[in-house]
Amino acid sequence: LADHPRDLFDRPLGDLRLSVTDQCNLRCQYCMPEEHYTWLPRRDLLSTSEIGRLTDVFMSLGVHKVRLTGGEPLIRPELPDIVKTLASRSDRGLRDLALTTNGVLLGKHAGALKEAGLGRVTVSLDTLRPERFKAMSQRSSHGAVMAGIRSVPEAGFTGTKIDTVVMRDFNEDELADLIEYGRAVPAEVRFIEYMDVGGATHWSASKVVSRLEILDRLARHYGSQPTPLDEGGPAPADRYALPDGAVFGVVSSTTQPFCRSCNRTRLTADGILLTCLYSLSGLNLREPLREGASDEELRDQVATVWRERADRGAENRLNRRERGVFVSVDSLRDDPH
Ligand code: GTP
Ligand code: 5AD
Ligand code: SF4
Repeated sequence: LADHPRDLFDRPLGDLRLSVTDQCNLRCQYCMPEEHYTWLPRRDLLSTSEIGRLTDVFMSLGVHKVRLTGGEPLIRPELPDIVKTLASRSDRGLRDLALTTNGVLLGKHAGALKEAGLGRVTVSLDTLRPERFKAMSQRSSHGAVMAGIRSVPEAGFTGTKIDTVVMRDFNEDELADLIEYGRAVPAEVRFIEYMDVGGATHWSASKVVSRLEILDRLARHYGSQPTPLDEGGPAPADRYALPDGAVFGVVSSTTQPFCRSCNRTRLTADGILLTCLYSLSGLNLREPLREGASDEELRDQVATVWRERADRGAENRLNRRERGVFVSVDSLRDDPH
C-alpha cells in the first residue's frame, strides 16, 4: 500500500476504464452523433499483451477493478483474448472485470466472453421502442440489442446492469417500463442524467432530467417514494428500492457529481492515460511502452500523474453553469495540495 499514490484531493487510484476501440456501430445523439469520424489507425491501438502489461502497472498502483469500454468494445475482434488476458489477473487482485456495451453484437459474443472469464456486463439501453431507438442512435439495431440483452443471463452472467440515459422529450415517460423490463431480464436498471461530455454536441441543461425528477416520476407511478439504500463507496449510482422490492440506480453526474470520491482513471484505445472524464489531454503511455520502458519507469510515470491530479470535471461544469438551473456544489477545496 505504500506504493499506492494519492492525488491532490487524497483520492486513491482504484478503477481503470480501458477503451479497446474508438469505433462504434451506433450514432447516439448524446455521444457520437456525426455520421463520419476519423478513426485511430490500427497500429496505434494497444495490443492484447500491451493492455495486459499496462494493466499490471495500474494494478501495482492500486487498481482492483477494470471496465472495458469503447467506442463499442465488441467491435474489437480480439476482445475475448483481451478478456482472457485480464481475467488471468484475478488471482493477483483484480476483483472486478466488467464490460460496458451497446449490446448490438452481444448476442453473438456473450457465450465466448463468459468462457473467457468476463465477470459482469452492463448494457446501454435508452428505450424499449424501436422507433425511438432509431431516432436516437440513427441505426435500426433495437432488435439486436434486445436479443443481446437476453443472451447475457443465458450465457450465465449475473450482476447485469442496464444503463439508461434519461433525456427530456425522449424517454422520460419510459422509466417504469424500463424497470419492469429489467426485472424480467434480470438486470438492475440505472438512470443516468444527461451529461455535457465531449461528443454530446447538442447538450443543453433543459434536456437534463434530474435525479429528483426521476424519483418523483417513479413515486407517482408506484404510489410511494423509492427508498434510498445506504451504501457509500465510490460507485457513481445511488440505489433505491421500490415498494415491491425492485431495485434501481440513479447516476446523477450532472446535478450531483461524485468527483469527491472519484478513483477512476481511463486508458484510451491508443494508450493515453486520462485522469478525468472531462480531460482534454493526457499522458501517452504507448510511446514509452513501445520504446522499451521498464515496468518500473511506466509505474513512475503513472504515479507522478496521479499524485498531481486535481480533476473535478463534473463539479467545475456544474459550478460554471448559470445559477438557478442547478444548485452549485463544492465538495472539494479550491486550493488542492
Ligand atoms: P459499476 O461498476 O457497475 O458500478 O459501473 P460504473 O457505474 O462504474 O460504470 P458505468 O460505465 O456503467 O458508468 C455508469 C455511468 O456513469 C456512465 O454511463 C456515465 O454516464 C457515468 N460515469 C461513468 N464514469 C464517470 C466519471 O468518471 N465521471 C462522471 N462524472 N460520470 C461517469
Ligand atoms: N450523458 C450521459 N451518459 C452518457 N454516456 C455516453 N454519453 C453520455 C452523456 N452525454 C454513457 C451512457 C452509455 C455509456 C456507454 O456512456 O450511459 O450507456
Ligand atoms: Fe472523476 Fe472527473 Fe468524473 Fe469528477 S468528472 S467523477 S473527477 S472523472
